[in-house]
Amino acid sequence: MLLDAAARRIDYLRISVTDRCNLRCRYCMPAAGVPEMGHGDVLRFEEIAAFVEVAAGEGIGSVRLTGGEPLARLGCPDLVRMLAVIPGVREVSLTTNGTLLPRYAMALRGAGLQRVNIGLPSLDATTYRHLTRGGNLDEALAGLDAALAHGFAPVKVNVVLLRGINDDPAPFVELTRRLPVEVRFIEYMPIGPESPGRYFVAASEVLDRLRELGPWEEVEALPGRGPAQHAFRLPGAPGRLACIAPVSDHFCRGCNRLRLTADGRLRLCLLSPREIDLKPALRPRPDAAALRALLQRAMTEKPRRMGDEADGFGRAMSQIGG
Ligand code: 5AD
Ligand code: SF4
Repeated sequence: MLLDAAARRIDYLRISVTDRCNLRCRYCMPAAGVPEMGHGDVLRFEEIAAFVEVAAGEGIGSVRLTGGEPLARLGCPDLVRMLAVIPGVREVSLTTNGTLLPRYAMALRGAGLQRVNIGLPSLDATTYRHLTRGGNLDEALAGLDAALAHGFAPVKVNVVLLRGINDDPAPFVELTRRLPVEVRFIEYMPIGPESPGRYFVAASEVLDRLRELGPWEEVEALPGRGPAQHAFRLPGAPGRLACIAPVSDHFCRGCNRLRLTADGRLRLCLLSPREIDLKPALRPRPDAAALRALLQRAMTEKPRRMGDEADGFGRAMSQIGG
């Protein structure tokens, strides 16, 4: 089992499989996009699996594929299948914008994927198009339907709130009346390209708005012990809601995760540029002992809390995968 220097148990790995995305969400990517990683820099599936084998052996039992948009990389179900059979891997999940799920949900399910989170920042077609810089809401909703139809559970809906753009929670409350999803309102983190000062909405404010839309009943936290605070639902509704407050509630003390970037760096904290390059231990061929040593190094170097360093983030959100 992996314990870091702050005695946090690390058992979860987020794997960015590509920095590319078929959308350009305003809170995630600059309008011009980001310089794309070279093809040869991006880890091959075999290299990702080799690292996960070592990590799972050390107690990382839960892995999540992210992007960019993970399904924008061909063969994602193949990677899911490779990871799902690794001893020690108890769960493989996916964070996606959902637009490619109608095409891939069945194959992903067959490959052993257990859960999906869908980034769906608005239920209004015009606002969705604006926020994602061109995305089609119907495609995302078809993806949500596909996820539910293929038995992923729970299905979570991620909503990064931007003031004056998509900060009305009411349509999402309505969604939970119809569908068995967990809607999670997420505070806009300053790593996004738009000036967050202007757009930031605190979770406390969302909760105040939600209070008016109740009555609510509290429900137990869902599996996947993420950073979401207590969840609640309308009595009798199939869906539920929660808030994630990465900015106003520093949840670093409970941090359980590492991130692997598409170009093979272990990112120790979402909000710190500190990374450990795994490539020397992966090429020309994976070296398990060397990978294990780098994982141990990550345990000593993982920042205790965000904002420990003032030297920027080093990457756009789309290059980390949230
Ligand atoms: N702040 C908070 N969350 C973000 N995401 C992307 N950019 C930001 C940001 N600036 C989230 C989206 C997506 C996940 C990968 O990261 O909700 O679902
Ligand atoms: Fe793409 Fe997701 Fe970032 Fe939107 S939030 S640009 S869908 S990676």
